[in-house]
Amino acid sequence: MPSQLPAYVSDTAPGRGALRTARSWLHSDVPSHSLNGMWRFRLSQTIPVAEDFAAEDFDDSGWDSISVPSHWVLQGDGAYGRPIYTNVQFPFPIDPPHVPDENPTGDYRRHFDMPADWSEAERVLLRFDGVESLFKLWVNGEEIGSAGGSRLAHEFDVTSSLRPGDNVVAVRVHQWSAASYLEDQDQWWLPGIFRDVTVIARPAGGIEDVWLRTGFENGYGQIETEVTADAAAFPVTLRLPELGIQQVWATAADVAPLDVDGVEPWSAEQPRLYDVTVSNAAESIAMRVGFRTVEIRGDQFLINGRRVVFHGMNRHETHPERGRVFDEEHAREDLARMKRFNVNAIRTSHYPPHPRLLDLADELGFWVILECDLETHGFDEVDWVGNPSDDPMWRDAYLDRIRRTVERDKNHPSIVIWSLGNEAGTGSNLAAMSAWVHARDAGRPVHYEGDHAGEYTDVYSRMYASVLETEQIGTEGSRSKLLNCTPAQGARQRTKPFLLCEYAHAMGNGPGALDQYEALVHEYPRLHGGFVWEWRDHGILTTTPEGTPYYAYGGDFGEVVHDGNFVMDGMLLSNDVPTPSLHEYKAVVQPVRFTFDGDELAITNLRHSADTSDLRFRWRVEHDGTFVDSGDMEVPVVAAGSSARVPLPRIPVSQDSETWLTIDAVLAAGTAWARDGHVIATAQLDRSTRRPAPGVRPQTNWRQSDGTLTLGIAEFIDGSLVRLAGRAVAGPRLELFRAPTDNDEGASEDVDESDAAIAGVSNAELWHRDGLDRLTSRRVSVERTAKALRTIARVSAANSALSVIVESVWSLEGDELELRVEIEPSSGWLTVWPRIGIRFDLPDGAAPIDGAEWFGLGPLESYPDSLRAARTGRFTSTVRDLSVDYARPQETGHRSQLRQLALTSGSTKVLHIVAFPDTRGRRPGFTLSRHTPQQIARAGHPFELPDSTTSHLIVDAAQHGLGSRACGPDVWPEFALRPESRTIRLRMAAGRGLSRNP
Ligand code: GAL
Repeated sequence: MPSQLPAYVSDTAPGRGALRTARSWLHSDVPSHSLNGMWRFRLSQTIPVAEDFAAEDFDDSGWDSISVPSHWVLQGDGAYGRPIYTNVQFPFPIDPPHVPDENPTGDYRRHFDMPADWSEAERVLLRFDGVESLFKLWVNGEEIGSAGGSRLAHEFDVTSSLRPGDNVVAVRVHQWSAASYLEDQDQWWLPGIFRDVTVIARPAGGIEDVWLRTGFENGYGQIETEVTADAAAFPVTLRLPELGIQQVWATAADVAPLDVDGVEPWSAEQPRLYDVTVSNAAESIAMRVGFRTVEIRGDQFLINGRRVVFHGMNRHETHPERGRVFDEEHAREDLARMKRFNVNAIRTSHYPPHPRLLDLADELGFWVILECDLETHGFDEVDWVGNPSDDPMWRDAYLDRIRRTVERDKNHPSIVIWSLGNEAGTGSNLAAMSAWVHARDAGRPVHYEGDHAGEYTDVYSRMYASVLETEQIGTEGSRSKLLNCTPAQGARQRTKPFLLCEYAHAMGNGPGALDQYEALVHEYPRLHGGFVWEWRDHGILTTTPEGTPYYAYGGDFGEVVHDGNFVMDGMLLSNDVPTPSLHEYKAVVQPVRFTFDGDELAITNLRHSADTSDLRFRWRVEHDGTFVDSGDMEVPVVAAGSSARVPLPRIPVSQDSETWLTIDAVLAAGTAWARDGHVIATAQLDRSTRRPAPGVRPQTNWRQSDGTLTLGIAEFIDGSLVRLAGRAVAGPRLELFRAPTDNDEGASEDVDESDAAIAGVSNAELWHRDGLDRLTSRRVSVERTAKALRTIARVSAANSALSVIVESVWSLEGDELELRVEIEPSSGWLTVWPRIGIRFDLPDGAAPIDGAEWFGLGPLESYPDSLRAARTGRFTSTVRDLSVDYARPQETGHRSQLRQLALTSGSTKVLHIVAFPDTRGRRPGFTLSRHTPQQIARAGHPFELPDSTTSHLIVDAAQHGLGSRACGPDVWPEFALRPESRTIRLRMAAGRGLSRNP
């Protein structure tokens, strides 16, 4: 039986009836009227449903109302279905170009008044800036046409169907269509009219389109103008008042390039824009131009003759309540935040954003890779059989998509590369898109990562290449094979500029190794940096049945197929909170590098073209993290790519505490994205004098009563610690487990070679297999000598012969309690360990431990391969704020290189702890949390964490790195924690009064 769906739903053509010539999104003064607002709405879960609703006199009074723009699945509290999240999988059978009859279909209707004077317009256009995924349009009951291409603009000529006064627009939107096969991006499927709808009156003799192609060379700007208009539209005038330019072109044939003297170039760092109008008798178009030339020279990607390094983010349009509906204020704040975190580039993954976003990018300053709305990743599941990218049936749709992409946004100086799409395999349709772009816009190169062999693209691009592989790509004459390339193709790829269109998968806690990637960029000029995957989590704000709000991910809406929390992989949490990894990123890519050399400081300006005249340089001295002195430094202006050396300030050095000098480069004046004083780069220098380690002078001071043994602030029963500083306490117990991060859960094949046996198995699984989350302990001995209490325990898991011997020695030095723990694994442990730590459980009692003050690395969490944002200092935090609310609870909160820690309850310091480095100088870290790693590992969302009556302190001799294995390389071997013997040595005192810092 034939499908019940109308044929146009599975038509691979790009729609019928929309204007084929796409135009720029222009700020014109012609009359226009927004149809955003409330529309009548009806959702059918399946069709056929008669199209009678499109009739003018259809009675829609029984329908609901819905706001446009919006996604219907995010409206009506579930009354209109729920969002679906999939990464690669298609949420419908792979049966191209068909989709199931169960196809949620939204019918929209609204009236609008056409002003009487619009009847003078030569044409009236109805423009849709974004409808997911396919829609059909009627005006006053007359069928106008249909269009697919969700994140692309479509205009319809509705002149003959309109009349002055009341008009009825009816739109039918299908969630699934042939177009869905081309829109399989890793994101929520969110149907509906989600961008603006506008009626536009086009005047006779108007300017249909205009393209100002700008360049900048040898101090001159160029404008090459393309005017799309009838002969009657001339004369046309271009005005650039700031430079005194007024150019009149009497006829189309007169339009000629302009050389513009005395212009400042546009760059992401100095986004200099000039206001321009292009006008004629009928219409005036306001534009903002920036002068810049994009060029590939050899294997270098240059703008205005200088090499560009992308410190980029992949940016999806996503908001916890609005989905992909654009909100200018939020977008502007988002971009300003990127600037504050030293981000200089955006890849619009994986479709053109709302057109206004590019205005903001021009204005705030970003290098943009503008990507077409195209991904067919789900065909990977069937070995790419039937992939539209290589099937002539889809060619027209592919070309239509790239045309609409380029034409809409071609005027933006921020766009420096066009991208054909993402993860669509390879094939002739992609090559045809590229050829079209080359013919249309010679001023910007073409990118597409899937063109591994470099057959039709201009830059070499990869995603998630390891540090090693990236280095091999950068190395001249390297013989190493490139992915999916013959040696000849590999050689060709090495002649091109390279970028990582995705790297550093920021899912959950991580990624590690950002600094290793960054180091390569400065070593190998062919490497042009990359784009972190990705800017923000895509959580959707919802509530549990009990009313607790949370950010939902895949599976939370009962989807039939889904990909869980793989959609929560941003450097910002869903609620806009920057994760520690974003701070790490900021520190790693900071555009000013400080190098300490004796009594001098070398300052290197790593920017593309801006000098340092916008910066001030400050210094600050702290002794054991306590402020001592600060000042400004005299630094000459440093040109981009240059260095300067200045003397370091003379600073007071302490004899009995650590002396740290901090240098900050800060903005000297406010900008559109940050206040003056905003820190853009930091470095620290340890100026401490070497001090002898304090000796141990053991005391004997045992007190015994009722089976309790007291040693200073510690009380023991049967050799077990029961009270500390007057509070109940359990532990210390060996803790080898951490709640697996998303990277720990990752099972990519890309593991250290020696681990070939466990490739494809996640660390989390191995840890569970070894029982690290369920260790048990057997007391081997308790020995009380005159000077110390010594216990030995054997720690191991059910059904495992592997073990760890833990020896704890308690003693007193003066009236301070000293604990020394020796941790020694048996032989035979094969996996890495998440941590080597000891855990104290501190029940709330009358006064819960709810805060910490520490001297060590902070203020945010840090791990061995993510330490660059952390600085040595003194910090305070509530226990709550020590943890990050990752969308799926996981390891969080570790503070590295601890010296001193005070546990606080309200404003009272309950317990002071001094942590000693081990004999190799390695310092422990700590975690203070309301939940154990085991509890955290069991929770799928923050609201699933149990109520807690205990604070848990873990002092770690070491932690495993973070890596990027959720989608990318494992932890770099140097930062992988192998089972090994470790010592933890702490000294503790109640309240105030610890002896000096070790
Ligand atoms: C890439 C893809 C992205 C995203 C990422 C993993 O392969 O291009 O869209 O899925 O992996 O989060």
